[in-house]
Amino acid sequence: MSTTPAGIIGRPTPRIDGPLKTTGTAKYATDFHIEGMTYGVPVVASIASGHIRTLDTSAAEKMPGVLLVLHHGNIGPLYRTVPNTDATASEVRPVFDDEVIRHWGQYIAYVVAETLEQATAAADAVRVEYEVEKPSIRESLDDYKGDRKKGSSRGTSDAAFASAPVKVDQTYVTPIETHNPIEMHASVAVWDRDQLTMFETTQGVVNHRVVMAQTLGIPLENMRVITRFLGSGFGGKLFPWPHCAMNAVAARKLSRPVKLCITRSMMFSGVGYRPRTEQRIRLGASQDGKLLALKQDYVNVTSMLDDFDEGCGEATPYLYSVANLDVTSALVRRNFGAPTPMRGPGAVPGLYALESAMNELADELKIDPVKLRILNDAEKDEEKNIPFSSRHYRECLEVGANKFGWAKRTPAIGSMRRDGKILGWGMAGASWVALRLPCTAHVEFHANGRVSVRSGTQDIGTGTYTTFAQVVHEKTGVPLDRIDVVIGDSALPDGPMSGGSMVTGSVLNAIANASTEAMKKMLALSTGTEGSPLKGAKVEELEFAEGRIRKKDQVAGDPEFAEVLKLAHIDGLSAEGKTVPTWEDPQSKDKSLHSYGAQFVEVEWEPEIARMRVSRVVTVIDAGRIINPKAAANQISGAVVMGIGMGLLEETIHDQRTGQPINGSMADYLMATCADSPEIDVTFLDHPDPAMGEYGARGVGEIGLAGVAAAITAAVHHATGVRVRELPVKIEDLLQSKVLHA
Ligand code: MOS
Repeated sequence: MSTTPAGIIGRPTPRIDGPLKTTGTAKYATDFHIEGMTYGVPVVASIASGHIRTLDTSAAEKMPGVLLVLHHGNIGPLYRTVPNTDATASEVRPVFDDEVIRHWGQYIAYVVAETLEQATAAADAVRVEYEVEKPSIRESLDDYKGDRKKGSSRGTSDAAFASAPVKVDQTYVTPIETHNPIEMHASVAVWDRDQLTMFETTQGVVNHRVVMAQTLGIPLENMRVITRFLGSGFGGKLFPWPHCAMNAVAARKLSRPVKLCITRSMMFSGVGYRPRTEQRIRLGASQDGKLLALKQDYVNVTSMLDDFDEGCGEATPYLYSVANLDVTSALVRRNFGAPTPMRGPGAVPGLYALESAMNELADELKIDPVKLRILNDAEKDEEKNIPFSSRHYRECLEVGANKFGWAKRTPAIGSMRRDGKILGWGMAGASWVALRLPCTAHVEFHANGRVSVRSGTQDIGTGTYTTFAQVVHEKTGVPLDRIDVVIGDSALPDGPMSGGSMVTGSVLNAIANASTEAMKKMLALSTGTEGSPLKGAKVEELEFAEGRIRKKDQVAGDPEFAEVLKLAHIDGLSAEGKTVPTWEDPQSKDKSLHSYGAQFVEVEWEPEIARMRVSRVVTVIDAGRIINPKAAANQISGAVVMGIGMGLLEETIHDQRTGQPINGSMADYLMATCADSPEIDVTFLDHPDPAMGEYGARGVGEIGLAGVAAAITAAVHHATGVRVRELPVKIEDLLQSKVLHA
């Protein structure tokens, strides 16, 4: 960011909820303690396939403090959600629906006791005998021979590929990755007669409410979901998981509140993961580097009952100009739990494959990889045959190359050295979809001098509280410390899910509209209120500025809004604002909306001790106008760190006998930490996207992860000569390097 704007939009703004978090005052789901609280601990299956022959809960039920052992035999009816509606659940099967075991870690019973310790002990005492069947838990999906679904398609890719003078035909593999937000999944269920309140860890209070009402079979108006703060989610908390209904039913049976916190090890089996993908990419090009054919055939793993398509072809059809293109897909069932979206679902693994193939093509052609991408830049969305709303991919590549010093790269393997280490430089492009979701916000002026803004969305940790306040401040001039942001409650007007990096781009317009409406109402009130210095004035002569109402031509006699409210004996005056979704807005509905980026990575390779580290990353992001560069840069650096994990560390491994995740703990599941994090240079191009409305913001978050892994494997190849096509890069891959000395 080169300049700091005068207004608050685009100014780096510290989080208004920061002090609540650093002082421990912010209340996360498990922080809600209710009188008479009880504690639940799930019992999970220790086989991957089969069914329950006997479940003996008698010993557990007699143990001290035990109140209830819930299971298939006594849970009572639970329902499926209505297909093709706004209710999205993570799994089609309601919890304890049958006695079939389809994955290790599936819930088979739920013990509730007076204390967590008693529930834990009793859960251990539940005895189960299984009829065991041979599970299908092979990690590799290369045995799939079934039908494939046709996705995006244009031209004749087979013929074009066959006749292309230069070809790349490779398969790229991404493993199962597990979401590891700091805050585990949790649910506190409280019934007040027939009214249920759930304190939840959800990225979507509105969807959660609808799903839970349908699952439990209770009227929607009896159901309320509260998520004031989230310790992140990465997509794992988008849709409700089976434990939520299990806990709600237990609370109903006991007529007492029940608190459930999923353990870290259960996080690896019952609340989703990014599915493994295997993607064959075929690129055909002319000798001078023009793409002639692009084929992407992918499979991803899914559970026995859920059809989760990772959508690896998401960015493929529009990123580059190519006349002949086909994407196909298939799902492969295994005895694992259900997959779920994980930061940048589809595009992140998809771009890892596509961008890796582009790098291989560049090497094949001996063309610089930045140049190859610019050469194939698309002028329009060739998939939909519509213009891009705002695309600056080429500028991302050029600015990134410049900042990184790419021109100094010598392409020969192992040819760059520094401080006794070999350097590898690699790069890749990035993209992510943009949409503006429909939503509603209320802005209210209060007689106590404060302004509140309300919407049924939530802050996953990205800075949503602050963005809300920035817009209200920009519109009304009321200082940030007098603005209350009320979110995280399904009783509020419908707001968007914290998913797809779409909250910012979606809510801004609703908040701006609500602010404008509320100010109009304040002006009218000031002219009709007895004792108001503006009584009898014409509304057209007035304006609302700095929290005050004044005549446009004179500043004197300008009452604060709170004075007017007091004079009028009104406690609060509110107005509603809405966001029109992009697909209904003439400005955006026939445009292709995406964010773009470029990732440049340096690795340091020490062949003598086989140590590979990412030492430097330059990332350039084109995500429309940036509302809060501070929070946005945090999002991108965090995503880059996650990309280092994806490239070098993360992978969930299942025991091939039992289907148990054998690295299901924070100690064994390797993630990038501070020590793995290099210097990260984040640049935003900051070109407002006119199709996104007044603010031109597309939102950031997921895009920062896209492309990082492909840039890492390219850098690894540059340093070592080893081409790794299955993530993460492992030491055993690097030991094949012929570059033995730095
Ligand atoms: Mo994101 S995977 O849409 O939470």
